[in-house]
Amino acid sequence: MTVCSAPGKVYLFGEHAVVYGEPAVPCAIERRATVAVEPRDDDRIRVEARDLSLNGFTVEYAGSTGERPDVDVPTPLVEAAVGYVDEAVAQARDALDAPEKGFDITVESDIPLGAGLGSSAAVVVAGIDAATRACGEPLDDRELADRAYRAEHEVQEGQASRADTFCSAMGGAVRVEGDDCDPIDTPSLPLVVGFDGGAGDTGELVAGVRELREEYGFAADTVRTIGDLVREGEALLADADPDEPASADLLAELGGLMDFNHGLLEALGVSSRSLDAMVWAARTAEAHGAKLTGAGGGGCIVALDPTEETETALKFTPGCEDAFRAELAEEGVRVEA
Ligand code: MEV
Repeated sequence: MTVCSAPGKVYLFGEHAVVYGEPAVPCAIERRATVAVEPRDDDRIRVEARDLSLNGFTVEYAGSTGERPDVDVPTPLVEAAVGYVDEAVAQARDALDAPEKGFDITVESDIPLGAGLGSSAAVVVAGIDAATRACGEPLDDRELADRAYRAEHEVQEGQASRADTFCSAMGGAVRVEGDDCDPIDTPSLPLVVGFDGGAGDTGELVAGVRELREEYGFAADTVRTIGDLVREGEALLADADPDEPASADLLAELGGLMDFNHGLLEALGVSSRSLDAMVWAARTAEAHGAKLTGAGGGGCIVALDPTEETETALKFTPGCEDAFRAELAEEGVRVEA
């Protein structure tokens, strides 16, 4: 049995615009998906999820690469989770040149599903890593990130960027622009996450932005403006000392850009009433800035606040189910056992 874990992430800036080639800066956080893999002697795939916000489920099917399993799944979230695991298996089989290899797979996660914290990327990264290692053929980090991206791209019908999977594989903060992905240095940031208990459909939300761009040409300017503010944010991070906590001035400037970024995401139609309520609760609590993170439509916001005020305010905000401080995960995917 080989066990690997990979972190979730928040976007400091740039989700959605990254799909159109603009830069984005996601940061890995210490919330992990853990995947245990045992190779089998036949071609069957058995997937057991212990939590994953799914109340636990087990499915087993005869696997053949390229075919989505036709299994009886209780909810769309479970269906999505099985789809991601299935594509991770397809990538591992391809890397191993073993198209009929079977696996027993157990997934546990403390990253809420579909909530903008990169749960699917973490499952896919940890799954491919555990499956290839279990067969004695570990991949290097870049190939792992690339294969995980291809798995997400497949499930999200060609609309995924490399941001989530690269960040989950490498850890730390990352700059993504098109196919170029690079780790970047950042000072430690006082990230606070608010979660509304819900989940957006990434594919639908990305398609919604695409339709908006088709309907109103000027929506493309909104996407480009997000790219401009990401470049501004990156320059601020590059000038800061990565070995010191972020200064109050830096937090104020980054926070201002996060607020701006949230406004533009709202204009693109990907926020929601509960996400806006949490963003405003954070601002009222004098967070330096707050924005939705990930695809939106429901799920999580991220705020910058070194004090306890935002976390406390979020816990009393109607529509907020959970609030927690999110430490930057320096380590990306790793072997647990
Ligand atoms: C989803 O976490 C982030 C999006 O930008 C989609 C992607 O980058 O694949 C909305």
